[in-house]
Amino acid sequence: MTYFSKALVSAVALTVAMAAPAKADPKAEVLHYWTSGGEAKAVKALQEAFAARGGEWIDAPVAGGGGDAQAAVLRARVLAGDPPAAVQIKGPNIQEWAEAGALADLSDVAEAQNWDAVLPQTIQDIVKYEGNYVAVPVNVHRVDWIWANPEVLAKVGADVPTTWDEFNATADKLLAAGIIPLAHGGQPWQDATVFETVVLGIGGVDFYRKALVDLDMDALGSDTMVAVFDQMRKMRGYVDPDFPGRDWNLATAMVMRGEAAMQIMGDWAKGEFAAAGLEPGKDYVCAPTPSEGGYLLNSDSFAMFNVSGADQVEGQNLLSELILGTEFQETFNLFKGSIPARTDVPRGEFDACAIKSMDDMVAAADGGTLLGSMAHEIAQAGAVRGAFIDVATAHFNSDMSSEEAVEKLVSSIKLAM
Ligand code: BGC
Repeated sequence: MTYFSKALVSAVALTVAMAAPAKADPKAEVLHYWTSGGEAKAVKALQEAFAARGGEWIDAPVAGGGGDAQAAVLRARVLAGDPPAAVQIKGPNIQEWAEAGALADLSDVAEAQNWDAVLPQTIQDIVKYEGNYVAVPVNVHRVDWIWANPEVLAKVGADVPTTWDEFNATADKLLAAGIIPLAHGGQPWQDATVFETVVLGIGGVDFYRKALVDLDMDALGSDTMVAVFDQMRKMRGYVDPDFPGRDWNLATAMVMRGEAAMQIMGDWAKGEFAAAGLEPGKDYVCAPTPSEGGYLLNSDSFAMFNVSGADQVEGQNLLSELILGTEFQETFNLFKGSIPARTDVPRGEFDACAIKSMDDMVAAADGGTLLGSMAHEIAQAGAVRGAFIDVATAHFNSDMSSEEAVEKLVSSIKLAM
């Protein structure tokens, strides 16, 4: 379901198309939600590359991880007939905005740079609408990661867990030793991030696909889903009492400082470790959350909204060209913790976690175990994603039974579909 009127968006698009662009200095207002330490460094790299080519960047950051706060700002701007030139959106949201006629067609730059040859099919499917590129992908973020402090784990003689039973056993030992097992923050999308890794781990790849991608009611209402919520209840017990309201990057900092042993978070968390000058394998370790070869994919991209003014159109063209450049893909993703969206970027500068992500993504694509993240708007968007997040967070933040959570999940997803 879209939140805006197609007619209104088309009217705005028409005015834009008529403003014949002469050659002008590139300018772009860029709406994004990259405000943490690592995120800010990554977006600054884009800003600098843009400025180096004569671009005037108007920064429009909306604080709030996961992008839920930004989505409201974007809707308001489009409805007011004043969209930003470039917006960080992803997954089915791209399709919705394209369907509403709000997005510029990027075919020219895509052809000039041969995007078809350098982007994996999974990514092409996300950023194309009716066969044409309408967004430019920045990266691939893997969601199903554990970030751990090895010194803290060593205090209870543990390594990073490789099964959920091991996770629970290690977390119980940490608790007994007075150490916070799981660094976690207090936004619903963070609960949903942990939830989807548990769905993948406890239920398996096919179960994840049925429940979170295909919205199969039998899977959603199954005993397996009850077991997922049982594990979520255990996870709640591994979190410290001060988690409400905490941002995800502050939870990452708890692992850095040794105040907590582990965090379950996408590899934007690695951007925080990198920004603090820490090294993987030494200061912290990364390992996929336990699953049988699953890979939860999230990919950021920028869509260019229909705007008026030759300078803004120039700005959009320049941004699109820069974002998929090989060099920029390397620089940006080293800061961001993600891996390049294009497949031909040299691997030499990337760390072991990134190399693992690259290899695992190819293996998962080949083996049919590559899955879109629900929490991060690849598998689902809008009301359905909202329903998953609401139930996951309502259960996590109360003493709701697993059976009740499953009932709520089935009824809320039915209503949202
Ligand atoms: C985005 C990342 C971002 C993270 C935290 C995710 O949904 O894809 O780029 O760093 O949220 O804000």
